[in-house]
Amino acid sequence: MGDGGKGVTNRIDQLRQEILEKTRELVRLREGKKEFQAGSSVVPYAGRVYDEEEVAAGVSSMLDFWLTLGPEGAAMEKELSEFLGVRNCLLVNSGSSANLVAFSALTSYKLKERRILPGDEVITAAAGFPTTVAPIVQNGAVPVFVDVDPLTTNGRADQLEAAYVEGKTKAVFFAHTLGNPFDLAEVKRFCDEKGIWLIEDNCDALGSKYDGKWTGTFGDLSTQSFYPPHHLTMGEGGSVNIVSKAILKTCAESFRDWGRDCWCPSGKDDTCCKRFDWQMGDLPKGYDHKYIYSHLGYNVKPLDPQAAIGRVQLKKLPAFIAARIRNWEFLRRQLVGLEDVIDFMLPTHATAWSPSGFSWVAGKPVVEPSWFGFMMLVKPNARFSRTDLARALDQAKVGNRMLFGGNLVRQPAFVQLRQDSQGKAFRVIGDLSGSDRIMNEAVFVGTYPGLDEEKLSYIASIIRSVAKA
Ligand SMILES: Cc1ncc(COP(=O)(O)O)c(C=O)c1O
Repeated sequence: MGDGGKGVTNRIDQLRQEILEKTRELVRLREGKKEFQAGSSVVPYAGRVYDEEEVAAGVSSMLDFWLTLGPEGAAMEKELSEFLGVRNCLLVNSGSSANLVAFSALTSYKLKERRILPGDEVITAAAGFPTTVAPIVQNGAVPVFVDVDPLTTNGRADQLEAAYVEGKTKAVFFAHTLGNPFDLAEVKRFCDEKGIWLIEDNCDALGSKYDGKWTGTFGDLSTQSFYPPHHLTMGEGGSVNIVSKAILKTCAESFRDWGRDCWCPSGKDDTCCKRFDWQMGDLPKGYDHKYIYSHLGYNVKPLDPQAAIGRVQLKKLPAFIAARIRNWEFLRRQLVGLEDVIDFMLPTHATAWSPSGFSWVAGKPVVEPSWFGFMMLVKPNARFSRTDLARALDQAKVGNRMLFGGNLVRQPAFVQLRQDSQGKAFRVIGDLSGSDRIMNEAVFVGTYPGLDEEKLSYIASIIRSVAKA
């Protein structure tokens, strides 16, 4: 390029700096403190919490115009895996894709006798988010639903033995619902004893701890969602976390990346140094490794600018986690005295809450949820229903949600599935009365870091006014 080339490079750097400065200024102006007006301002249950740094990172990556998962993606995968202390993280375009890829990985022939085959059974929880369960059915396996404990919202470990069938049950796939770790000690012990896989759906629980360790680091695989309500966001996004075995990375990566056998990152060729020397399947020797498919895969990668945003969010994660814990505690204190009409959610292994803290079942590991939300069950004896409370919150512009799909087997998709399969597509353990309670009585409000004491006090005042009316 010579001197002229250097001049152009300098001008490009200068323009980039100017654009990023202006970007930061724009975001600062737009996002300046907005006055909260009780009753007219919307108080979402969750949402993006960001400042000029996330926007500048996204813009900078767009200026590079790499677009597909590239340098920012590789850096985020490394930083997230270091944060969690797992072997690898593979970025995907949603938590649902993470669940699909994680489960599909376990169907790989590369896992030999431990692979999950069509007709095999997988134990999961009846109440929760549907895409924890969908990949089981989509891969031809049979979900076996255990009930949930309505106070912890998690799958009941005491029903695992009843759900288990020797030679048929191949995995447990449970979520740490609303950020509350499930009974990892018992579930992991069960999976290890039976020699079956454990997948943790950690989509709601990044930053929760069980026995002093992050959730998402106990199973063979775990998953994250980075959709805006979650603990950090990249718009749409998620991650498959590889915990136990290196081969699971090979399988998950293949399913994420079209099913290919090749593992070259985007823009690179021949990282295996034998691109034209492989012989696989019935292909001729030397067929380009880039186009050899060991699985029937997907393409569910996010874009590089999303990862650039996610990397800035990741730096803020410790503060986000602390805020979620603080906000849950603040709300709980504001609602003291409503226990006759509302059952408040409890961490797994807790027996009660009081202003001095939780009481715990003796001898059980310490549980520290990084709360996704603040869940309440409106007791049947209350003079108001869960729907009355949800409606009142809605009218007061306070964001609230039911617990995702409630009892999933009552959802039209599962009713149809049961009908289409003459009852063979899934099994149910017990009467699922805990899941029904969640479906009929549960509502949750936010704990996300965008809520301050003024907004939390307002949320609590609406709940109190309904409860005391
Ligand atoms: C437990 C759980 N799993 C999976 C998902 C799906 O994540 P996504 O919306 O990123 O697909 C969600 C969504 O909130 C969830 O709560």
